[in-house]
Amino acid sequence: MMPAKEARSRKGLAESFIGRDIVSMRDLSTEQVLFILDLAEEYEEMNEPLLKGRILANLFFEPSTRTRLSFQAAMGRLGGSCIGFADASNSSVSKGESLADTIRVVENYCDIIVIRHKFEGAARLAADYSARPVLNAGDGTNQHPTQTLLDLFTIRKIHGRIDDLRVAFLGDLRYGRTVHSLIETLARFECQFVLVSPPQLRLPSEILDDLAALGVRCREEFDPSILPRDVDILYTTRIQKERFPDPIDYERVKNAFKLDREALSIYDKTVTVMHPLPRVNEISTDLDDYEGAAYFKQAKNGITVRKTLLSILLGAAQ
Ligand code: NCD
Repeated sequence: MMPAKEARSRKGLAESFIGRDIVSMRDLSTEQVLFILDLAEEYEEMNEPLLKGRILANLFFEPSTRTRLSFQAAMGRLGGSCIGFADASNSSVSKGESLADTIRVVENYCDIIVIRHKFEGAARLAADYSARPVLNAGDGTNQHPTQTLLDLFTIRKIHGRIDDLRVAFLGDLRYGRTVHSLIETLARFECQFVLVSPPQLRLPSEILDDLAALGVRCREEFDPSILPRDVDILYTTRIQKERFPDPIDYERVKNAFKLDREALSIYDKTVTVMHPLPRVNEISTDLDDYEGAAYFKQAKNGITVRKTLLSILLGAAQ
């Protein structure tokens, strides 16, 4: 039996999520982030019908495999159901309906909304219009908080902690939203960063300025073919083709780097190789059975973390 004080704080923390939106990692205190990770440990094998009769609306205005299907699977595992669309061209948006109107209608059909959109700020707008909780499943180049939580969950499972780690971010640091939300969260946990990208894809200056203001140790390297040696984790990303205003600029950087067994032979220890997926050609399939390969584990952990989030936002957590 848990001591009364601990039990109260757990109850209090669980209640702090009820009806909330998660649009950005900045919506969550460090205490709340850790609470989600702890609860997710308990939810990994838990498939009770906590969300029986509840409905999730998946509004995907951009392509998705993992995020949309794992929300759907998480809801199903907990006894709830899903409505929504995976392609906005099938929705009334193609007739000219505004996002605000779509949200005002859909909130009547569901208990919680998950939205992915190509515009930064779209999820915040949806949250402003919706009386139901809104979860941001990626808004343009801005944020992808549920991916960050599953990334943190994966890191903690492998390394036993999320603090004091040396993390290299590789690839498209300019447009990759998974990097933007993860780096600012890991910065709260005294991690150090190496940022490896072609110069045109470096981390946006606003984020670099925020990291500098926090006194976070951060080094930039502009030759992606040279891997930094002093790291625990290589967080690799896809070059975000769809975000480039000029396709010629994409052509210049599309093959900027590739991780394979040979590239990792410089390490005399196992490094954790992460990627939010989908990969194109950044990670060779010859790494798939490498001990540190964590990308399919991340995808698997997505269900656990999303079961946890849906339960706490809907006030059904046990
Ligand atoms: C990412 C995304 O949509 O930002 N995918 C995902 O959710 N796992 C990464 C990407 O598309 O490259």
